[in-house]
Amino acid sequence: MSVRHHLSGRHAVITGGAGGLGRGIARALIEAGAGVELWDQDAAGLAQAVAELGRRATQRQLDIRDVNAVEAAADAAVVAHGRIDILINNAGVLGEVRPIWETMPENFQRVLQVNLFGAYLVTRAVVGRMLRQEPRRSPDGHPLRGHVVNIASIQGKEGMAMAAAYSASKAGLIALTKSVAKETAKEGIIVTAVTPAAAETAMAREISAERRADILSRIPMGRFVEVEEVARLVLWLSSDDCSFSTGGIFDLSGGRATY
Ligand SMILES: NC(=O)c1ccc[n+]([C@@H]2O[C@H](COP(=O)([O-])OP(=O)(O)OC[C@H]3O[C@@H](n4cnc5c(N)ncnc54)[C@H](O)[C@@H]3O)[C@@H](O)[C@H]2O)c1
Repeated sequence: MSVRHHLSGRHAVITGGAGGLGRGIARALIEAGAGVELWDQDAAGLAQAVAELGRRATQRQLDIRDVNAVEAAADAAVVAHGRIDILINNAGVLGEVRPIWETMPENFQRVLQVNLFGAYLVTRAVVGRMLRQEPRRSPDGHPLRGHVVNIASIQGKEGMAMAAAYSASKAGLIALTKSVAKETAKEGIIVTAVTPAAAETAMAREISAERRADILSRIPMGRFVEVEEVARLVLWLSSDDCSFSTGGIFDLSGGRATY
């Protein structure tokens, strides 16, 4: 891992931090010197992640769809660490893999609730508090209060058959990223998103072998993205080196999307 992105003394919140990508991102931020708080609803997964990541990782069990729980968690994080420098909106669910006419309304709603509404609640709570923080200075002397990185998906750009709710939620997250970035551009809060292709995590294991082969065939590099490849880009986007790219949507699709 690069030693360029010094995050010593920085405090990060990672939602979905007990899962595959969240844990990999946490590891990268910790290796760069940050402390991380993992927010997740999976108590067993959180305990395992914190044991694996060591003393600079802490945990908070919550459902990001619950406004009161999110507000309380944001308050507690500020009390514990003084500030939140980095937010990674990473919690997400895949939902049913079916054509839209066979999907259940409750499923569509659940996917939107976690992937988009949950990200909205967490962003609202954390960015609201970041705005009250004293800014640091970027390497070029510009004020920086914090970095927000949203984990969207290639499916939010391209759409994907049998995943309308998931794709729509990620397209929404991309639009949320661009909008919040414009709102905070003068406040020293950098907001970006990444759009990964499939990675080998619990989420990818939910799909059939046939669909997996179909997804793989769409990726020109002919392979899935490594968790570490996602983590390296997120690390850069969380660092002070990323100081003029707000609202950007960063590709991680092995050539599937070149925009
Ligand atoms: N794995 C992939 O192929 C892939 C590709 C592109 C984007 N993504 C995105 O990356 C992110 C991480 O996914 P992953 O692959 O690590 O999956 P994962 O299932 O390993 O992790 C997701 C985590 O989110 C948590 N979570 C779900 N609902 C929650 C809620 N309501 N409140 C709090 N926590 C909740 C889960 O408990 C889990 O720990 C997701 O947003 C996903 O959409 C994944």
